[in-house]
Amino acid sequence: MLIENSLISADSINSSFLLDEPTHYSLNGATPILEIIEQQAIRPPGGDHYIGDFYSAISALTRGGNNRIVDLLQQVYEIRPMTPEHHTNLLFRAVQAKFMKEPGYPNRYTTSQKWIQLLMDLVNDEEMFETVRETLLTKDTTTTVYQRYAGERALMAAITRGKPTRAVDLGCGGNYGLPGMSIGEQFKPINDNTHNHTLNRLLSDPFLLEEGLAIDREDPYNLDAINWRHSCGLYPTELESGGFQEVLALEKRLSIDKAVRFYQGDLLILPIGNELSEANYDFVSINTMLYQLQSELQVKVIQNARKLLKPNGKLFIQDFAFKDTSNLTKLCFEGVEWGIKGNYRLFATGASSDDEMFEVFKWNNGRCRQVAEGEDFQRFFSSIGYNSN
Ligand SMILES: C[S@@+](CC[C@H](N)C(=O)[O-])C[C@H]1O[C@@H](n2cnc3c(N)ncnc32)[C@H](O)[C@@H]1O
Repeated sequence: MLIENSLISADSINSSFLLDEPTHYSLNGATPILEIIEQQAIRPPGGDHYIGDFYSAISALTRGGNNRIVDLLQQVYEIRPMTPEHHTNLLFRAVQAKFMKEPGYPNRYTTSQKWIQLLMDLVNDEEMFETVRETLLTKDTTTTVYQRYAGERALMAAITRGKPTRAVDLGCGGNYGLPGMSIGEQFKPINDNTHNHTLNRLLSDPFLLEEGLAIDREDPYNLDAINWRHSCGLYPTELESGGFQEVLALEKRLSIDKAVRFYQGDLLILPIGNELSEANYDFVSINTMLYQLQSELQVKVIQNARKLLKPNGKLFIQDFAFKDTSNLTKLCFEGVEWGIKGNYRLFATGASSDDEMFEVFKWNNGRCRQVAEGEDFQRFFSSIGYNSN
């Protein structure tokens, strides 16, 4: 993939930034990671210009043959197979976690050149570099955004019409979703372009969570997990505008909830039928989690989700994905660009509709402040007998 104008080219980097003489870089199997890095340099998550400049800097250093950066990308790829999207996302979070508490972060890093300077400080400091490498080898991004649960909350209200319900959140991250819905935590305003503002209307309909189960392999209440979540959960522009204080206040409000139980476990090997009741839940959500997994593991998580559902229950999958036109019960995650409006979607499925994936909502991005109808919007609401007129 070509580096476009908005990226700085390897040639434009002052050679003093390079540890070694520029060489031909070779990423071997890790090459797709550079493609995603360069896509995100042009269209960064949330349109965040700091992140765009960061990825431009990584791209320029890689193409300029900076051995430390090239080796880092390659070694992590070899030791820990993950999707290029996840690897790319994690790379920025690992660096931000290291520098976020430094004075001047993020305001100081307004250009790619400034990120290059920071990255050169990083690669020249063995201890810092090792921390970032360790993070890449052991951590997962844990960005939890309460706003992402607005679509599921709306659909659950449409289906339950105020009756008590049981729901599961798989890959709950900081566990904001179900506790927030349980205590009636409001969502931020949403620019709703659906027919008759269906989503916003449903958000003001009653919803009663009788019992919630939130599952993640990380305990969201463990101090290390809290620190990692806080340091990797916000875009730099959000940090700049007081996002961190907002998150702390939200977590405090959610702590009063009593309806949601947290279970720590790996979604690939859940003890369903033993510690977790089979076919006991009306809804299961998998929100922004599957994109991190290889496709055979995605299938496993979805199978486990289906086991938790009552026979007429609904499974929601919200992610950077699209419908597989050759198999309507499946989703495709590969090659979905994050920066493109409408690529973050909410799908609903269930045994009562032969496990077909209905694309119900399309979001402007993973921060969910603008929504449009998915291609199955009308069909989905008809299938649940909801009249959106
Ligand atoms: C990006 S976060 C999403 C958090 C939240 N659902 C949201 O949308 O805001 C993905 C979460 O999935 C969890 N996760 C990934 N793979 C997992 C697995 N195999 N078992 C359990 N949790 C997993 C991670 O620990 C992380 O908390």
